[in-house]
Amino acid sequence: MARIEREWSTKMQNKNKTSKEADPSVIMEMNTAFWISRTLQVANELEIFTKLSGKCLALEDAAKAIEIPPRPAEMLLNACVALGLLEKENGCYKNSNLSEKYLVKDKPEYFGYMIAHGVQLSEYWSKLGEVVKNNKPIEHSAPFEDEETARMFTLAMHSGSTPTAKALVDFIPLPHTPIKLLDVGGGSGVISIKLAEKYPNISAVVFDTPNVCKVAQEFINQSPASNRIKTYAGDYTKELPKGFDVVILSNILHGKGVQNCISLLKKVYESLNQSGLVIILDFLLDDDKCGPVFPTLFALNMLIATPEGGTYSGAEIKQWLEDIGFNNIKKEPLIGNTSMVLGVKGKNDRNKNLF
Ligand SMILES: C[S@@+](CC[C@H](N)C(=O)[O-])C[C@H]1O[C@@H](n2cnc3c(N)ncnc32)[C@H](O)[C@@H]1O
Repeated sequence: MARIEREWSTKMQNKNKTSKEADPSVIMEMNTAFWISRTLQVANELEIFTKLSGKCLALEDAAKAIEIPPRPAEMLLNACVALGLLEKENGCYKNSNLSEKYLVKDKPEYFGYMIAHGVQLSEYWSKLGEVVKNNKPIEHSAPFEDEETARMFTLAMHSGSTPTAKALVDFIPLPHTPIKLLDVGGGSGVISIKLAEKYPNISAVVFDTPNVCKVAQEFINQSPASNRIKTYAGDYTKELPKGFDVVILSNILHGKGVQNCISLLKKVYESLNQSGLVIILDFLLDDDKCGPVFPTLFALNMLIATPEGGTYSGAEIKQWLEDIGFNNIKKEPLIGNTSMVLGVKGKNDRNKNLF
């Protein structure tokens, strides 16, 4: 267990103490939590983990490799050790298993694009005070407007959604009859790709904006299932193609207000064949909307970045689906902060025993 995990678990126990016993260390942790994210982001910017990959370097050599003076290098590297990102052995610094797997450029599960996206979010979050006073998002261009921004955003989403896609493939038993799947706002297409790789009976359409479809096509080209996955450039606020057995909305609803969520879900209903399955993946709130922590904070993230986005509880989404005519609605935790809501179109459904 990394030092940070040990220390946090002790400090978080403090939350449950009576007011007489409680001490303010947990408040101090909250106040300085951004130090952790900035340390990670700067280490990523300097490509420390890529430069240390497969090596164990003494301070002087590590400082040279990352091109900063030894004094800040020692502080930064020691902080990375404490955070569980590096290990120090006989005075040499090397990657931990975590950073070797996820923070080394060009490794298949590289997470660095999401961390770079985090740098942008840190800037946005510095305006939170203004945003909550004015109830207005900050001014910024939509992530898919120009080609380069769309690429960077899509690579970031790809890192975030790869574990989700793997968990979904393990969780959901689909039938072995031919399945037409529509991945609405599918981003890099990672969910369609992982499902199509597991199920040879799936043919998938990744529906997204034109700039994002170009990036998705690059990922699709690398997949052994590429001949069964297509991109479709369109605008889901206008219309969706029809005739699908499964429609996926992964990380889509949190970008919209309630009325736009309902209107998109109605389009999904129209897009599905009878007995078709909708799979919604998102950061769902508890029914009282006061937890878990990540979805409550993600709501603020959406307040900052979008005019009407937010996070929703499973109960809210279930109600929307029921009102539209979906049946067999279930909410399940999936992985990390992501949960899913499943629903079937119509009553006479062949998918009802799937989950
Ligand atoms: C948060 S990302 C989620 C990507 C992917 N589903 C995932 O979970 O990794 C939202 C996606 O919706 C796409 N999108 C946003 N508005 C859209 C619209 N009106 N029509 C089609 N796609 C849209 C964005 O380009 C982006 O790829």
